Amino acid sequence: MDGNGRWAQRRHLPRIAGHRAGVKAARVIIETCARLKLPCLTLYAFSLENWRRPQAEVDFLMRLLREYLKRELPSIHKNNIRLLIIGRSEQLPDPVRKDIEAGMRLTAKNTGMKLVVALNYGGRAELVDAFNAILDQVRANGMSAFRADEQTISEHLYTAGLPDPDLLIRTSGEMRVSNFLLWQIAYAELYVTETLWPDFSRARLLEALADFQKRERRYGGLGAARGRGRAAVASAAAHKSNDTSGRG
Ligand code: FPP
Repeated sequence: MDGNGRWAQRRHLPRIAGHRAGVKAARVIIETCARLKLPCLTLYAFSLENWRRPQAEVDFLMRLLREYLKRELPSIHKNNIRLLIIGRSEQLPDPVRKDIEAGMRLTAKNTGMKLVVALNYGGRAELVDAFNAILDQVRANGMSAFRADEQTISEHLYTAGLPDPDLLIRTSGEMRVSNFLLWQIAYAELYVTETLWPDFSRARLLEALADFQKRERRYGGLGAARGRGRAAVASAAAHKSNDTSGRG
């Protein structure tokens, strides 16, 4: 959800006005992805590095997230969306963690789109946590001959059980992955747009999805697999299908 600050700056507004506008954009994108029946949408809301921002901005973002949950959870639930969080959530302030846990409990049985919010998230930290979880398991069970494979790693990530993103949308023109879903985006299509997140409208999302559908996906092979996929947004990541076959 990149570009909130710049959006505000261009209007001579404080950065927090950009974050408020960013929440409005998130609401539209979530609703549109759910209507399009994407199985999974991941929004990168707060990175491990974001704690380095001024305390007032961090506090505002935490309040904004709680406000968002309070206001939007009934409609998220009504639309059969399941809320999930990835990241080191145990390090979040207690009230934020409690609200998130309540939201996840409320929507736990929903069968529609999974809305994954990356909060206090970092891709390298996720891999470190996964490797340590595997080591703990190996030690606890005395599995001295154990060898990990790709499935072992995937199953110990925060995203275990979720499809890998097919499309990674990066707003505000940044040409970086910025520590987002490092393992999971191995085969994701990248879409970079100059549009700042608060201006990332339904029309801009549809443009990104149309662009994705034109891509030829070969997964290292020769055959063309056009427009099949799951999606994530680094700004947002979208996951279009649950089909994990055909990886090579
Ligand atoms: C990136 O813009 C945005 C963020 C770091 C915060 C986004 C989080 C929220 C709006 C909280 C609510 C969350 C949800 C899921 C509704 P930036 O500040 O890095 O902008 P810049 O790159 O222009 O400075």
